[in-house]
Amino acid sequence: MSLRDRLAALIAREGPIPVSRYMALCLHDPADGYYATRPSLGEGGDFITAPMVSQIFGELLGLWAVEIWSQMGRPARFLLVELGPGHGVMMTDVLRAGRVAPSFLEACELWLVETSGPLRDRQALALNSLATPRWADSVAELPGDAPIILLANEFLDCLSIDQAVWSGRDWHERRVGLDGDGRLVFSTDGGRLHRDAPSDAPAGSVIEWSDAVGEIGRVVGDRLVRWGGAALFIDYGRDTPGFGDTLQAIREHRKETPLQNPGRADLTAHVDFPAFLRSARLSTAMTTAVITQRRFMNALGVVTRAEALVRARPDRADTIARQLDRLVAPGQMGELFKVAAIHGPGLSPPGFETSP
Ligand SMILES: C[S@@+](CC[C@H](N)C(=O)[O-])C[C@H]1O[C@@H](n2cnc3c(N)ncnc32)[C@H](O)[C@@H]1O
Repeated sequence: MSLRDRLAALIAREGPIPVSRYMALCLHDPADGYYATRPSLGEGGDFITAPMVSQIFGELLGLWAVEIWSQMGRPARFLLVELGPGHGVMMTDVLRAGRVAPSFLEACELWLVETSGPLRDRQALALNSLATPRWADSVAELPGDAPIILLANEFLDCLSIDQAVWSGRDWHERRVGLDGDGRLVFSTDGGRLHRDAPSDAPAGSVIEWSDAVGEIGRVVGDRLVRWGGAALFIDYGRDTPGFGDTLQAIREHRKETPLQNPGRADLTAHVDFPAFLRSARLSTAMTTAVITQRRFMNALGVVTRAEALVRARPDRADTIARQLDRLVAPGQMGELFKVAAIHGPGLSPPGFETSP
């Protein structure tokens, strides 16, 4: 039975399900979930990510990690963690850039937090000649006995969200139900109200929240306060609170409606960075401002690095210019993607100090 048919049977039996449950089943159902069975990243797949656009992205993050390690007093052992490493491309660039400080590479114990079996295989292959990674299913499973430097690109956006719709008088939870013909549809007729939502929204407004994203903020914040270190999150999302339905499905580089092909498309939602950082601060961890990818990459020297690559390979100048544009141009990834860090005491994460 297809995932769509199993979802329809589940809803017929139990009633409309929360958006978070729908999302989790579409992405992680062991028999049919997108990441569990058929993740397809890259130019020839469903979507492309910044590390796949250019090596510069991972290299700059590698130098960021080396700088954090230096600020931490160059500990002899620390956990270098990536959440949701996809094809492992970013970590190969991070480790290559890490060669500027051989003792950084000697001190690092590499951990990849990944639930997808097929992607774990890709990561093992990509990192084969560079490192011996270990895998965990969640941040909570990481060893709790060393400082951490953690990197996550396009990870938080895959975590489940919930939604509510403002009727003009009340917030009603949005759920996934069935119409009279047995098709999957959104409904607002069954749910609890979202507790903290404002009451000044225009009718029809959608508000989103993610318990899963909040949990990552809380657990990472706890670890960084206890053991020291810093965590860098890059994702598309908002830097101020707001309304809007951002749940989207992407397949073959095109958006489609999230209910169209359960398990066959990547499902994501924009990350509410202010809410995420609030969860991290519950543990007294410190957080940076939320800035654009453009500003962050410029502060880390993306242009200088691109110029060095062009000097080494003048024949690739046009390609490198196009890649740079894709990473930082406002109409591309430059403004849509936001960057923020969570850190323990005594650290000043690079990239956040300069003006736009
Ligand atoms: C959009 S891909 C990003 C890949 C990579 N970071 C990049 O930039 O190319 C999302 C990654 O997060 C992983 N992922 C999704 N949900 C997860 C979860 N709940 N726990 C651990 N990994 C998850 C996916 O399997 C995949 O590796």
